[in-house]
Amino acid sequence: MWSLRVSVSALMFLVIASLILHLLVLRQFKTRPEHLRPENLTILLWHWPFGVAYSLKGNFCWEKFGIPGCFLEDNRSMFSQAEVVVFHHHELWTGRSKLPLDLRRPLKQRWLWLSLEPPMKNGNLSAFNSFFNWTMSYRRDADIFMPYGKLVPKKNRSKSFVVPKKTKCLVAWVVSNYKEQYRRSKVFQQLKDFIPEDQIEVYGQWKKRPISNKALLKTISQCFFYLAFENSECTDYISEKLWRNALQAGSVPVVLGPSRANYEAMVRSDAFIHVDDFRSVRELAAFLKYVASHNQTYGSYFRWHESHEVKIYTDWRERLCTICSQYHKLPVRRVYKDLYSWVNQ
Ligand SMILES: *[C@@H]1O[C@H](CO)[C@@H](O)[C@H](O)[C@H]1NC(C)=O
Ligand SMILES: *[C@@H]1O[C@H](CO)[C@@H](O)[C@H](O)[C@H]1NC(C)=O
Ligand SMILES: *[C@@H]1O[C@H](CO)[C@@H](O)[C@H](O)[C@H]1NC(C)=O
Ligand SMILES: *[C@@H]1O[C@H](CO)[C@@H](O)[C@H](O)[C@H]1NC(C)=O
Ligand SMILES: *[C@@H]1O[C@H](CO)[C@@H](O)[C@H](O)[C@H]1NC(C)=O
Ligand SMILES: *[C@@H]1O[C@H](CO)[C@@H](O)[C@H](O)[C@H]1NC(C)=O
Repeated sequence: MWSLRVSVSALMFLVIASLILHLLVLRQFKTRPEHLRPENLTILLWHWPFGVAYSLKGNFCWEKFGIPGCFLEDNRSMFSQAEVVVFHHHELWTGRSKLPLDLRRPLKQRWLWLSLEPPMKNGNLSAFNSFFNWTMSYRRDADIFMPYGKLVPKKNRSKSFVVPKKTKCLVAWVVSNYKEQYRRSKVFQQLKDFIPEDQIEVYGQWKKRPISNKALLKTISQCFFYLAFENSECTDYISEKLWRNALQAGSVPVVLGPSRANYEAMVRSDAFIHVDDFRSVRELAAFLKYVASHNQTYGSYFRWHESHEVKIYTDWRERLCTICSQYHKLPVRRVYKDLYSWVNQ
């Protein structure tokens, strides 16, 4: 009897003690959010990409993305306070902007090299060796991986997707920079031998058929397939042509770019058709016609809509905010001594 009473009170004690402990721990998290995020970060953008500035009024990263303590600046007078200074490559190599090599660089400050362009558009990088600590690029092995888009789990699973009516054409393509020597141009020219002309729609500078973004997505959605052909075939380079023009528009992408395996690292394997899946363009054309005339097979390319949706990155400010959300995972000590080789590998 006595021992029972002792063990009951011991148990009571334990329960109460653990309750108090829980409350204390919870209290600490509630009243000290900085426990999770000890520092504010200032990210200085040295110049705006392609000369187009956005407003940095308000606390953008917090208000739009719930990232606390992340302050974006574009006023160069903030240089000495910035934890990270971001340099978009295009302006550096065209000479429109220069690295501030005359300023004393704070010991803890990191310089971040930013480019979402494929290597052939980055010029000769050897003048930029040994200045940068971090990179942001479409490459998965960059310090900050910044894809043009991605598939994310669907927010509202009960929202169903309806495949848009295909009333306009079999194949749509938008091309501005048409060069005969590009592989994509050759594939397109061959495709024309096997698909009737009235089943192909081409927009963009090349055919002097400019089209607004809004009209573009609507038009593409009315075609069975969209040629998401990249101008450069390099690792991880998958542009908005896939994410926005095809997947988001509701047309099945026919891709030409990196390998199928590379695409599959970022998109479900049943969401696209790869030019390299076929021995010839003739076979590709025959396959497209087959799929377009078989309702169920065609519908199977949209299965990813059941669980996923497309997220597209377009706003430079959003991209800059990710520096803060990833800051603590970034390598502490790093210098890109040979940026040239890293970009061109
Ligand atoms: C971080 O910034 C906020 C908002 O400006 C400020 O209230 C807070 O004191 C700062 N925290 C630190 C640790 O500097
Ligand atoms: C940049 O900051 C300096 C110092 O705070 C200020 O005098 C200047 O007006 C700012 N420039 C712009 C364009 O806001
Ligand atoms: C790049 O520039 C460096 C120095 O100006 C030069 O030595 C090198 O040959 C250039 N490389 C290419 C591929 O043009
Ligand atoms: C999800 O989508 C369904 C169907 O469109 C809609 O009825 C429902 O209100 C949505 N739920 C939320 C939380 O948005
Ligand atoms: C397949 O056919 C049905 C009925 O004709 C139609 O409602 C549906 O949209 C079609 N699916 C696709 C993917 O075109
Ligand atoms: C950042 O890069 C600079 C320039 O190469 C270098 O001097 C500095 O040590 C690097 N910082 C860190 C923390 O690696």
